[in-house]
Amino acid sequence: GGQRPGTELTMCPCPPGGAQSHSSGRRAFSPAAQRAVGGAIERLGVQLLEKLPFGPQQPNVIVSPLSLALALAQLALGARNETERLLLGGLHAHGLTCYHHVLGGLIPQLSNTSLEVATRTYLRPGFEVKLSFMEESLARYRASPAPLLSVEEVNQWVENATSGHIANFLESIPHDVVLMLINAMYFKGEWQTRFDAQATSKSIFYLDNQNSVWVDMMKSAQYPLRLMFESQLQAQVASFPFKGNTSFLVVMPLPGKGNVSSVLPKLNISDLYTRLPQEETMQVNLPKVKLQYRQDLQEALTSMGLGSLFSGPDLSGISDRPLKVTGVRHASTVELSEEGAEASATTVVTALRSIFTFSVNSPFIFALVDDTSLAPIFLGVVTNPAPDDAPMANDDPRINSTLSDPPVKDSDGKFDTPVLVAQKLLESIAVVLKWEYTYP
Ligand SMILES: *[C@@H]1O[C@H](CO)[C@@H](O)[C@H](O)[C@H]1NC(C)=O
Ligand SMILES: *[C@@H]1O[C@H](CO)[C@@H](O)[C@H](O)[C@H]1NC(C)=O
Ligand SMILES: *[C@@H]1O[C@H](CO)[C@@H](O)[C@H](O)[C@H]1NC(C)=O
Ligand SMILES: *[C@@H]1O[C@H](CO)[C@@H](O)[C@H](O)[C@H]1NC(C)=O
Ligand SMILES: *[C@@H]1O[C@H](CO)[C@@H](O)[C@H](O)[C@H]1NC(C)=O
Ligand SMILES: *[C@@H]1O[C@H](CO)[C@@H](O)[C@H](O)[C@H]1NC(C)=O
Ligand SMILES: *[C@@H]1O[C@H](CO)[C@@H](O)[C@H](O)[C@H]1NC(C)=O
Repeated sequence: GGQRPGTELTMCPCPPGGAQSHSSGRRAFSPAAQRAVGGAIERLGVQLLEKLPFGPQQPNVIVSPLSLALALAQLALGARNETERLLLGGLHAHGLTCYHHVLGGLIPQLSNTSLEVATRTYLRPGFEVKLSFMEESLARYRASPAPLLSVEEVNQWVENATSGHIANFLESIPHDVVLMLINAMYFKGEWQTRFDAQATSKSIFYLDNQNSVWVDMMKSAQYPLRLMFESQLQAQVASFPFKGNTSFLVVMPLPGKGNVSSVLPKLNISDLYTRLPQEETMQVNLPKVKLQYRQDLQEALTSMGLGSLFSGPDLSGISDRPLKVTGVRHASTVELSEEGAEASATTVVTALRSIFTFSVNSPFIFALVDDTSLAPIFLGVVTNPAPDDAPMANDDPRINSTLSDPPVKDSDGKFDTPVLVAQKLLESIAVVLKWEYTYP
């Protein structure tokens, strides 16, 4: 799969063996090149998040910008002319040399942390695709081919690839679908500083100035956190590091001053990440959540200017027969938790009284960020961490009694030293692209 003409946007001066050097574990691209691609993934992700509606009916949105970038970039390998330019524009890849190489190179690098990425190209038996597309897909994105036999088999593969977190991904696969590009991601990280499961207790989460819900709040009286107030966004920004090289960034608008919708258009995750100050020890409250999100992205991608993928794209790099995209399916879940009680037996450090408290008790934006490329692996909006519970009015006396959270105490009545056990188990995601063979 050498370079084809007319693809100066994706040309890479690297030798053809470049992909092999990644799989051997050697970092082949500079942090600057990775950050450029990370920034492109971030732009794609923030733009997508802005197009996905949230509100009382759909209070939480979770997407994987990395997963979507991988799927669209693989599609771009088979796109030609205007369609290729459109896709690379949507990916914010214009002007980035070696875009495909650097993006594909993130997969083995991230697999070294707590992320598993699985990629497959499902082909309907008998449908002929160009060898160069399959070769490039494999070399750049490790997307190996598999025969498209049944919806059950595809769903089983997605379920396997996400450690069981996403079942029944597709309801059906119409018979005229000849090709599907699928990737699935599973991230299971461990907080660098854990929460003590015994300190978790019910607390109030303020949905807005009228309504609240009860949530299980993970609490720590002494948590090392990078925290700042960002005055332009009128939001608190904090970063919780995971073991391995990823961080969980929380952007929480100050109730009454800003809200998630007003912050999103101004959101620059990598900028916030790099401006965060040094860690300081403080009291931290973070809701324990388990959220799921499923959405077909056709409408959002269309409003991002990619509508022609669904009408008459030039995918002649995949096949000489006319193809079009019939759907981009997406499902994701996120789970934040501490770990089991056994950890509470670990070392207890003498507690100091916390001066600051950072309490994530109103709607927030989160990003799971790769510390090297600063690419958002996952990105989401949480406006209601307990969507299945009926909200209470804020003036409900049951809330009044708990308005001021008492400091976390251990059984001796001393201030607890947290820092023990917390494990964060997190989410999974998959993006599917279907092609429809239209008879000429
Ligand atoms: C993976 O991690 C190991 C040690 O944790 C390190 O030696 C190796 O260079 C890493 N590989 C990549 C591709 O980052
Ligand atoms: C974020 O800000 C940095 C510098 O402050 C800038 O270089 C970058 O392009 C911005 N990224 C986005 C996605 O706007
Ligand atoms: C599209 O690209 C192909 C080469 O991949 C070229 O032969 C063809 O003329 C181009 N079509 C248009 C309309 O530019
Ligand atoms: C899923 O995992 C099971 C058990 O490891 C394996 O037998 C099966 O072949 C896998 N299915 C797919 C579709 O990958
Ligand atoms: C994380 O990145 C640092 C450099 O920024 C490196 O020294 C360290 O080995 C990395 N850790 C892992 C687990 O890859
Ligand atoms: C969010 O804030 C903007 C501007 O501050 C305001 O116009 C908008 O109504 C607010 N939205 C909600 C849902 O409160
Ligand atoms: C909260 O409780 C106090 C005393 O119990 C009472 O005076 C006050 O009116 C209550 N506030 C609300 C909002 O219910």
